[in-house]
Amino acid sequence: MKRLYLQEVATRDGFQNEKTFIATEDKIALIDALSQCGYAKIEVTSFTSPKAIPALRDAEAVMCGIRRQPGVEYTVLVPNVRGAERALGCDIDEANLVMSVSEPHNRSNLRMTREQSFAQLREVITVIGRGPVAINVSLSTVFGCPMQGDVPDDEVLHWVERFAALGVRGVTLCDTTGMAYPTQVQALSQCVRECFPDLQLTLHFHNTRGMALANTVAALEAGIDRFDASLGGLGGCPYAPGASGNVCMEDLAHMLELMGHDTGLDLARVLAASSRLPGLIGHDTPSQIIKAGRRLDLHPIPEHVHTLSRQMTHTERESA
Ligand code: COA
Ligand code: ZN
Repeated sequence: MKRLYLQEVATRDGFQNEKTFIATEDKIALIDALSQCGYAKIEVTSFTSPKAIPALRDAEAVMCGIRRQPGVEYTVLVPNVRGAERALGCDIDEANLVMSVSEPHNRSNLRMTREQSFAQLREVITVIGRGPVAINVSLSTVFGCPMQGDVPDDEVLHWVERFAALGVRGVTLCDTTGMAYPTQVQALSQCVRECFPDLQLTLHFHNTRGMALANTVAALEAGIDRFDASLGGLGGCPYAPGASGNVCMEDLAHMLELMGHDTGLDLARVLAASSRLPGLIGHDTPSQIIKAGRRLDLHPIPEHVHTLSRQMTHTERESA
C-alpha cells in the first residue's frame, strides 16, 4: 500500500472562481470540517489583491479564524511581497507562490512578464527567508497554455531549476486549463522527479477535458505521491467557461482507495463536507461520487425482483 498525500484546494482554487461571496464564517466552518478529514495540506486562501480576486478578500480573517489541526499543513497562495507580508502575519505553514511557464498566460493572469514574476518571487522568497515557513512554487500551464499551445519540456525544467536553486521546498506542476493527457503527464513527471529528486513534487490537475483521473494514474506510474484536488470538483477555467474545475477530491480519493493506496483521508467525512457545498455556493458541483455514491454503496433489491423469484420457485416446484 502506497502512502499518498492529498492536498485540498477548494477554498482557494475553488472559491476564487465563485461568483457569490461566501461568508467568512462559512469558509472557516468548512475549513474546520476539512481539518478533520485527514488531508496532508489545505490551501486555505489567497493573499492577492482584493480587487483582482474579491471572493478571497477576507484572507486574514479566514486564516486567523480557523482551528489548526496538528499534522495538517496550512498553505496560502502568495502572488507578491505585499501578499507575503500579509500572509506572514497570519502564522501560515507554507506560502504557495505562483507564476506561469507560458509568457502570454503569465501576462494575462499576473500582468507581468515571466522575468518580472521571477524577480518578484525571488524577493518574496527572501522576505520569507529560511524560517519555519516552507515555500512551494506552483508553475501554471506546464502541460499546455490556452494561448501558446504546448510549452516545451526544457522550458518547464528551466523554471523548476531556477526555483530549486533558490532553495524552495516544493514545486507544483499545474495543468491550469486541463490540457494534460496521460502519456505526456507520465513523461514530464518522471523527468522532473529524476532531475530534482529532493523537491517535494505535487501534481495539480483540472478536469476541463475529462482527463484528470487518467492523468493521476499516469502520474502515479511515474512515482508521484502528492496531488492537489478540490472538494466537489470546484474551480474553474477562465478559458473554458462552463467546463468542470479541479479534479474532484472525493472522486480522486475514491479511486485511489479502490486501487489500494493509503490516502490518509476519511472519505465519509470528505463526502459530508462536499454535500455542504451547494448550500454555500448556490449550485451543484461536478462531483460524481456525490451523485452516484461509492462503488459498493449498494441499493436494496427491488420488491418486484423478490416477487418474481418467489413465483419462479413456485413454478419450479409445480413442474417437478
Ligand atoms: N494584497 C493586497 N493588495 C494588493 C496586493 C496583495 N498581495 N498586491 C497588489 N495589491 C494592490 C495594490 O496595493 C494596489 O492597490 P491600489 O490600487 O489601491 O493602490 C493594487 O492592488 C494594484 O497593485 P499592483 O502592484 O499594480 O498590482 P497589479 O494590479 O499588477 O496586480 C497581482 C498584481 C498579481 C497582485 C494581481 O494581478 C493579482 O492578485 N492577480 C490574481 C492572480 C491570481 O491569484 N490568479 C489565480 C491563481 S493562479
Ligand atoms: Zn488550479
